[in-house]
Parts: sequence; C-alpha cells; structure tokens
Amino acid sequence: MMKLGKKDILGIRDMSIAEINLILETAESFLEISTREIKKVPTLRGKSVINLFYEASTRTRTSFEIAGKRLSADTINISASTSSVVKGETLIDTARNLEAMNPDIIVIRHSAAGAPHLLASLLRQSIINAGDGAHEHPSQALLDMMTIKEKKGKIAGLKVALIGDILHSRVARSNIYGLTKMGAQVVVAGPATMMPRDINQMGVRAYTKLEDAIADADVVMMLRIQLERQKQNIFPSLREYAQHYCLNRTNIKLAKPDAIVMHPGPMNRGVEISPDIADDPGCSVILDQVNNGVAVRMALFYLLSGGNE
Ligand code: CP
Repeated sequence: MMKLGKKDILGIRDMSIAEINLILETAESFLEISTREIKKVPTLRGKSVINLFYEASTRTRTSFEIAGKRLSADTINISASTSSVVKGETLIDTARNLEAMNPDIIVIRHSAAGAPHLLASLLRQSIINAGDGAHEHPSQALLDMMTIKEKKGKIAGLKVALIGDILHSRVARSNIYGLTKMGAQVVVAGPATMMPRDINQMGVRAYTKLEDAIADADVVMMLRIQLERQKQNIFPSLREYAQHYCLNRTNIKLAKPDAIVMHPGPMNRGVEISPDIADDPGCSVILDQVNNGVAVRMALFYLLSGGNE
C-alpha cells in the first residue's frame, strides 16, 4: 500500500488524486470493522488523539472520537467552551500545552480560516482540519466522495450539483476542490449574495436558479445556510429562501431518476431540504454519509500514523 507521505490533513486543495484515492480505498477497507460485534482492532494501541473543538459539532467530533476508539487509540475531547479558552488562553498557548502532553494527532475545528495550518507549522504532532471557518472541511469532502463512489461506482463523469450558501460553506469549497480533481462535472446554485466572487475560477459552473443546476444531475448536495458566518442578512427571509432553494418532490424530478441526495448536516428541514426528500430511502444517502465518515476518519488516523509501513 502506498504511504500518504503527509504530516497533516489541512485541506483537499493541496491533496493529489493519488492521495485522495489512497484515503478512499483505505476507508473502504475499514468499513467492515464497524459492522463487527466487537468493533475494535488494535492497530493504533498506545497512540493518543486530541479532538480540540472551538465550534459546535455533532457528526465530526463524534465520528473522530469513534474512529480513534475503533482503532484502539486513546481519544480525548476538548470543547473550547469548557476549557481554559474561556479564561483567555490563546490558541497557540493551548496548543503548546497540549503538545507538551505528547499526543500523536490533534484534530481541530476553529472559526478562523487557517487555524489548523498555524498549528501544523508550530507543532510536531499531526494536525487534522475538522473545519476552519468558511475555508475547508477536508474529512467531510472525503466522506462525501466515498459515498458518491459507493452509490454510483465512480466519481469521474458524474454531474454533481451543490446548492445553497456556497460562499460561507467549507463543505462546498472542499468538495469543489475534490470532485473537480476526481473528474466530476460540478455545478453550483445559490443566491448571488451567497456565491464566491471567484467561483468561475474554481472550475465549476454557477447558476442562481436551483432548477438550472440540478437538471440531469447524478448527485444533488444541499447545503445549510451558514447564518453564524454571515455578517449581515443577505436574503429577505427563510421563507423566501425556501421558495427558491428548497429541494422538494417537484424540483427533484429535474435531476436524473436515480440521482442521490446528500447533505453534510445539520439539516434545516423545510429550508434547504423538504423532510420527505431527506427521509426518502430511495434517494437520500445522508445517513450513509455519516456511516462513511467514521471509516474516512479511521483511514486518516491510520495513514497519518504510518499506515502499514
Ligand atoms: N457535517 C458536519 O461538519 O457536521 P457537524 O457540524 O455536526 O460536525
């Protein structure tokens, strides 16, 4: 098996196709462990992982923790809200103190773009970016690519539509980098106020109408409005947003009949996705994404720890 040859996982932009394929194939091989009665292998016994989360999380933090535990690593969770961050300790001081306890890997989520990159440049530990501001969310894009490959048998040549708040979405950014590298045709749609200025330089086609983007799509990925990252109201109301950008039983008919529907979570039901689509086992693969997230994070821990070298 090829080695990853990276100290850190900071983003998909700086990842090669070979590295993405290695992570996806390793994750696929780990899927089976989560179906065993005893969901644990000794691979990372004696290693320790710190999950350092400055922002709220359900899926990412839990699946990094479960991934570590399934590989027998010791996992420690730190939430900024219950740490000495509330007493004014800086990110760098926090990181230096954690480094002094000799963990092997630090997973960080932070509202500032570049926070994981700063830690990676300062610390000897491997750093995994679990979401930095509106910048990147690499493990999410990897689990999304794994899910597309699992459901469609390939990524290259598929039409993937990303709908919603593209500007503030680190999930969209990482997926655009990853999916275009892997040969998918990526289209995006959202209000003009939620579209990055440089969208046309990102190798995707941008629309303002959801219907134009999802026409004949193989994959429709709906995104949450990142209200926490918007500096001012950039759309009139949630009701009006939903009128134009909610995936529902009517507009989904424009996509291919066997199209899959994805969402990174958390969902705002009735805003960007109607509940009957979110819960439809015929098209929704949202919980498969979550399941694959554990395997992807196991693969990241395993490969950063040297793989089978
Ligand atoms: N997809 C995702 O990042 O979800 P959480 O915010 O719950 O981790």
